[in-house]
Amino acid sequence: MADYVEIFEVGPRDGLQNEKRDIPVSEKIALTDTLSRAGFRRIECASFVSPKWVPQMAGSGEVLAGIARPRGVRFAALTPNMRGFEDAVKAGADEVAIFGSASEGFSRANINASIAESLERFAPVAEAAMQEGLPVRGYISCVTDCPYDGRTPPGAVARVAAALRDMGCYEISLGDTIGQATPESITAMLEAVLEEVPAGRLAGHYHDTSGRALDNIEASIALGIKVFDAAVGGLGGCPYAPGAAGNVATEAVHDRLVSLGLETGLDREVLVEASAMARAMRGAPG
Ligand code: HMG
Ligand code: MG
Repeated sequence: MADYVEIFEVGPRDGLQNEKRDIPVSEKIALTDTLSRAGFRRIECASFVSPKWVPQMAGSGEVLAGIARPRGVRFAALTPNMRGFEDAVKAGADEVAIFGSASEGFSRANINASIAESLERFAPVAEAAMQEGLPVRGYISCVTDCPYDGRTPPGAVARVAAALRDMGCYEISLGDTIGQATPESITAMLEAVLEEVPAGRLAGHYHDTSGRALDNIEASIALGIKVFDAAVGGLGGCPYAPGAAGNVATEAVHDRLVSLGLETGLDREVLVEASAMARAMRGAPG
């Protein structure tokens, strides 16, 4: 049997959060329900952040309340602080994610905190999640390049990864937030992070601004990474990362993995259907 590599679908969250059009909750629910039929084990469809910072995610509670909840699919939510965590629990998220940065400039721009302050803020969230029995995922942004600070030293990523590991994150997702990584810079970053966290607890989260995300995934597979975040239709971007284009498209990752002889467990026809829906949800390019 071919080796399994998991795609963690982030389209309904990372894909949509930056769209300018006020997308109705019903459309978000329809997209998430379609994705649920594709065979994902985990789908991120909610974000309990300040609506002043990211207005598009304001309906996250309604999305979680309205989607079908098939067995075997976990629905994830971003939770930057205790307030977000409490809202996520009330809304019935199956897992939560804390999200930090390896660069100070992006940390300040995205969550209005230094890296050290953000880790202090995340610690009670992780603790409360574990008390609730909810898995906590950790994100690290700008793992190779930052739109404010330039190149990120691999050691800075390893330090944040170790802190998130110590807080109990079951998996740490490494974000090339602005899609500037190369297979070489991804490899150097991963080699440093692997000193702290084993490959089985890491995921790659690569935006595709420069068209290198698939090559970066291959470089990561060579180092044992087996989970990759992607957004159907290649939607996405981060409002606080100028130049961040979409996440790598789920269907493209699926095709590359299959061409490498790997198994994703996904139904390509349903992916194509979801991709068409996702693209139709986009506002006019601004
Ligand atoms: P702040 O302004 O420092 O915090 O924001 P605050 O505590 O002073 O709160 C400001 C206002 O927000 C207050 O409201 C709070 O009540 C409210 P006001 O009194 O002004 O009316 N507030 C909240 N409302 C709802 N839910 C909450 C919440 N918390 C406070 N949870 C904060 C700090 C973290 C809240 C803010 O900076 C924020 O929401 N940032 C989120 C930014 C974001 O969502 N970015 C995109 C996701 S990250 C990403 O895309 C990267 C990733 O994909 C990986 C990669 O690609 O690298 C994960
Ligand atoms: Mg992202």
